[in-house]
Amino acid sequence: MAILTKGPRGTQDILPGETGKWQHVERVTRETAELFGFREIRFPTFEHTELFNRSVGDTTDVVQKEMYTFRDKGDRSITLRPEGTAGVMRSAIEHGLLTEALPVKLSYLISCFRYEKPQAGRLREFHQFGCEMLGADSPAADAEVIAMVNEIFKRLELKEISLEINSIGCPVCRAKYHEALRAHFGAHREELCDTCKDRLEKNPMRLLDCKSPICREIAKGAPTVLDFLCEDCSSHFEELKRRLTAMGVAYTVNPTIVRGLDYYTKTVFEFVSGNIGAQGTVCGGGRYDGLIEQLGGPKMTGIGFAMGLERLLLVMEHSGSPFPEPVPCKIYLGSMGDEAAVCAASLVSGLRAEGFRAECDLMGRSVKAQMKYADKLRAQYSAVIGDNELASGVIKVKNMLTGDTAQVKLSLDDSDDDSLMSYLYHTGFAELTEAVEGMEL
Ligand code: HAM
Repeated sequence: MAILTKGPRGTQDILPGETGKWQHVERVTRETAELFGFREIRFPTFEHTELFNRSVGDTTDVVQKEMYTFRDKGDRSITLRPEGTAGVMRSAIEHGLLTEALPVKLSYLISCFRYEKPQAGRLREFHQFGCEMLGADSPAADAEVIAMVNEIFKRLELKEISLEINSIGCPVCRAKYHEALRAHFGAHREELCDTCKDRLEKNPMRLLDCKSPICREIAKGAPTVLDFLCEDCSSHFEELKRRLTAMGVAYTVNPTIVRGLDYYTKTVFEFVSGNIGAQGTVCGGGRYDGLIEQLGGPKMTGIGFAMGLERLLLVMEHSGSPFPEPVPCKIYLGSMGDEAAVCAASLVSGLRAEGFRAECDLMGRSVKAQMKYADKLRAQYSAVIGDNELASGVIKVKNMLTGDTAQVKLSLDDSDDDSLMSYLYHTGFAELTEAVEGMEL
């Protein structure tokens, strides 16, 4: 039955050959966030559905079409998180994090769920690294958050990515903008998709990111929000641009960026790549000055971003960003006979305790087959312990690449046969470790 051997559509297994790349990205994002003073927060995979309706917005595609919503056995409406910001805000309000010294800086690495049509870079379960900075109103905060994303990409040696920024104003300037949008789209009312006909009155900005081809075409001639910014939003945007330039962060202004979630105000931004197909937005974010209050928290502003790790990895692979090599197997200790096998296992334990990746036989293979396996592991060194080695304490270590060998003498002189194993475990490996460490065969 294929259903048992094929994962659900839009999900992806991350196999051992790939996990090293993920760990690299996770390490760099975490370390950079730490440098910028962000502390990690972990929060549930599911929340009350109402949280997303209120924050992401009930006229967005995410809420209207893409959420994994179900009733639990207690008849509560539950939703798998389609994004992280709502859960972080809920948690920060619930646990009083917003009374801490400001700004509160939080980061997260999470899986998210959206019922979208899968394609390259678009999955139904995907992963985000995100940061939220709460309580800092000034454009300096926007610039710092954006500069941090830039720093992450620099550290990952990501090329082929560019920053686009925009301002979508605040409730004050938006009222006039909404009117202009209603006038523009109203003239094409009959051509709009059914969802957009409904959105036209409630939330006309949502028409700007509708995925239906006809709505997209009509959206092309729509007025842009930058022409409607109030004094405060306009000076905020000017100062952000000044700061980014001063920090050496290259950007272009793209007045068509509106973002697909309802909570944004003022600054919005996206890091985009033209080289990974239609889903080129690797990172998206912006300011959300009314959200915390709207969810029942204090009057406090926020700004943040999230980057999609699947898309990030696609760009990294496409642009040839380097990934660290997996930790190689330093030494394979083969053995011939029972006693030698126990000895090899002891030495391997000791080597691992010293931080070396070491392996020995667990399959009862012949020496020849053990060496073949050592080759497959790409072990850097190998040695075989047999009766002679047990008696003399001399082990011949071979460089698997060059074939060169060197003798390592384990000082067994003081030990009697009975305690040989324990001697090796506690002492012998130190000499082997030293030898392996210093070996330049
Ligand atoms: P978003 O733009 O909806 O923003 O998602 C952020 C990123 O997640 C996208 O740029 C993309 O890389 C990735 N992403 C979204 N949907 C998918 C998908 N179906 N498959 C693969 N990757 C995807 C947010 O989620 C906001 N919470 C960001 C934010 C944080 N704004 C302020 N703070």
